[in-house]
Amino acid sequence: MASLRMKDLEQYLQQLDIFEKPKVMLEQYPTSAHIASHLLYTAQSQFNDIENCSIADLGAGCGVLSLGAKMLNASYVVAFEIDPDAVDILKTNCDDIELFVDIVQCDILQTLPDKFEKMFDTVIMNPPFGTKKNAGIDIKFLEIATKLAKKTVYSLHKTSTRNYVLKKAQEFGFNGKVIAELRYDLPQVYKFHKKSSVDIQVDFIRFSFDN
Ligand SMILES: C[S@@+](CC[C@H](N)C(=O)[O-])C[C@H]1O[C@@H](n2cnc3c(N)ncnc32)[C@H](O)[C@@H]1O
Repeated sequence: MASLRMKDLEQYLQQLDIFEKPKVMLEQYPTSAHIASHLLYTAQSQFNDIENCSIADLGAGCGVLSLGAKMLNASYVVAFEIDPDAVDILKTNCDDIELFVDIVQCDILQTLPDKFEKMFDTVIMNPPFGTKKNAGIDIKFLEIATKLAKKTVYSLHKTSTRNYVLKKAQEFGFNGKVIAELRYDLPQVYKFHKKSSVDIQVDFIRFSFDN
């Protein structure tokens, strides 16, 4: 069970501010309130992975997943984000809705793993897909997520990379299951997008520790 209805969760998340000037190299595509609410609601109502759980959000951006987890009564949420401008927006979002998460501004590829190993019940993330001269960053995020999570990782990955992602997860000791296939609507936030929005196929995957 979830403490909120999915519709209410989506409406609350719609109020949050998103990136003012998204940075291409950091792949700052926000998760829509619609997708974020479905993702979090499923994690809670089907698997009990949010309420009373400690949560890490990797590449938290403006906090839609972190704050959504908090709304669903996560016991403890830490938002990790590299970009100080995104962190400022995340802080404003916290103030505006009077919900607070811990924020760690850092490059997770440099500073995270050992310190936080197995500290969180659940890791949630919408990682960079690795399409901006940063090939492989999605898998690096996944590897770090599996180090931090005691039980479960929820993540979004391009459907075209599904087999590879599931294989890498197994190498990291986690069993991946595709929960849903989504059409991820990227608004025209970057100059090189000629259309007003671009749909890409994305998998919502639950990775569980294979013990
Ligand atoms: C696709 S966006 C998702 C943002 C947010 N989680 C959401 O769902 O709306 C990926 C985020 O990862 C952040 N990011 C990229 N590389 C990072 C790194 N090495 N360490 C921490 N955050 C990073 C970006 O700044 C961006 O906010």
